Amino acid sequence: MAAATGICAVLLAILAAAPSARGLGRDEFPPGFLFGAATSAYQIEGAYLEDNKSLNNWDVFTHTRPGGIRDGRNGDVADDHYHRYMEDVEIMHNLGVNSYRFSISWSRILPRGRLGGVNSAGIAFYDRLIAALLQKGIEPFVTLNHFDVPHEMETRYGSWLGAGIREEFDYYADVCFRAFGDRVKYWTTFNEPNLFTKFAYLLGEYPPNHCSPPFGACNSGNSRREPYVAAHNILLSHAAAVNNYKKNYQAKQGGSIGIVVAMKWYEPLTNRTEDIRAARRALSFEVEWFLDPIFFGDYPREMREMLSANLPKFTPEEKKLMQNKVDFIGINQYTAIYARDCISLPCNIMTYEGNAMVLATGERDGVLIGKPTAFKGYYDVPQGMEQAVKYVNERYENTPVYVTENGYSQQSDNSVEDLINDVGRVNYLQGYLTSISSAVRKGANVRGYFVWSLIDNFEWGFGYTVRFGLYHVDFETQKRIPKTSAKWYRGFLAGAGPVDDQVQALKADS
Ligand SMILES: *[C@@H]1O[C@H](CO)[C@@H](O)[C@H](O)[C@H]1NC(C)=O
Ligand SMILES: *[C@@H]1O[C@H](CO)[C@@H](O)[C@H](O)[C@H]1NC(C)=O
Repeated sequence: MAAATGICAVLLAILAAAPSARGLGRDEFPPGFLFGAATSAYQIEGAYLEDNKSLNNWDVFTHTRPGGIRDGRNGDVADDHYHRYMEDVEIMHNLGVNSYRFSISWSRILPRGRLGGVNSAGIAFYDRLIAALLQKGIEPFVTLNHFDVPHEMETRYGSWLGAGIREEFDYYADVCFRAFGDRVKYWTTFNEPNLFTKFAYLLGEYPPNHCSPPFGACNSGNSRREPYVAAHNILLSHAAAVNNYKKNYQAKQGGSIGIVVAMKWYEPLTNRTEDIRAARRALSFEVEWFLDPIFFGDYPREMREMLSANLPKFTPEEKKLMQNKVDFIGINQYTAIYARDCISLPCNIMTYEGNAMVLATGERDGVLIGKPTAFKGYYDVPQGMEQAVKYVNERYENTPVYVTENGYSQQSDNSVEDLINDVGRVNYLQGYLTSISSAVRKGANVRGYFVWSLIDNFEWGFGYTVRFGLYHVDFETQKRIPKTSAKWYRGFLAGAGPVDDQVQALKADS
């Protein structure tokens, strides 16, 4: 009873706080629109030494440099999804999603890379997961690489810095297409390579912990050069896998293939021409860095001018390899941020946007761009989503877009009750979905939306200190508890229509 009263109070708060979203209903999205939730292998699976999986870059990094993770913890167990996947599929079924975005662990499939054998136990795990999803009518939406590589790639090639890894990735992708492609209709090669390469090789915060002064004090690295070398090898690895899929699998398997980029929306800080150019340039160094080569065969001109010899060049053969485009573009869109020019005015450029000579800031004249979230630099700015989608559609030939991640973080040190009564997340998700529906109404080519994340999990450098899940996870007991946002998403997906009607459904529920 007390619990029911609490939920009602929360619902009233939602209604009061989000009047603009009252009309939001699933029926405003086109038929066949994918609605799902997302996760990644290292962040949820655990079982890090089981069934002949080898160590990957994150296993080694978290064990050898625990100081690199905010709470010193790791993904050895994480959500224990490897053993609890049936329960997690049941949770998804309960939510009513029609798709699930997850990633495959390379070190489970090919523990020693292409020179060792395929690990049948690794294949068997994803076979079981895919079968369980399909049995519930949930479409698998599969990422081949979400930040994790077998440690052997590091020792043999310096991972993404060595050209040898391209053949390794191509081989790994081929094994996956062959093993799962009869059932998997949505593939993406890489998740956020534009973010990963900067955290790994510019800021030195992800394995292999490379950076150079003044960006940081790592044992090795070159922050001005290595992110671009790694990105170049990732782009060519991507191209090899896409070519193979299109040539040897697509016709008979009938699926599609794309890539996922992280995409902040940059607003000029002021009306100065310099800041307007800076916002444009930040986007170029963020998104066009990867998508321009894929669509137009080369890096954006501004990157070439500013990075000169630090930006690798595509040879004529490589350009030929790049000529197969993607079937869709995935964007992970969480926040908008102001961009200030650092060419005309001095600023600290030892940051994520530094090589673009841009300072990103959430504040203009003392006013924040949106409500802050637990993730530093991430704000609740729903209209940024519509802008981002429009920009990608316009620049890249109206290629279909999937919003492959969008979500809201909470600090773990809140009380469990507060974490579960996540009204802030409900408001955030409603706002962003409303923004997508507005874009769709104006003709944007968007085909799906995935909440990050299904369950609280290991959030890379933040460890377990922040929580993105629709479901709360007690990491001691592994119990999953639906948050208010899970109930809201379920109501929305059930076609409960405007929020008013959903109150009845949720009341009946509690
Ligand atoms: C792991 O590899 C060993 C050696 O190849 C093999 O005997 C064993 O059956 C494998 N375990 C699993 C679970 O596949
Ligand atoms: C930019 O200019 C417009 C029109 O002059 C003005 O309304 C707006 O407040 C200005 N924005 C900023 C950030 O200065």
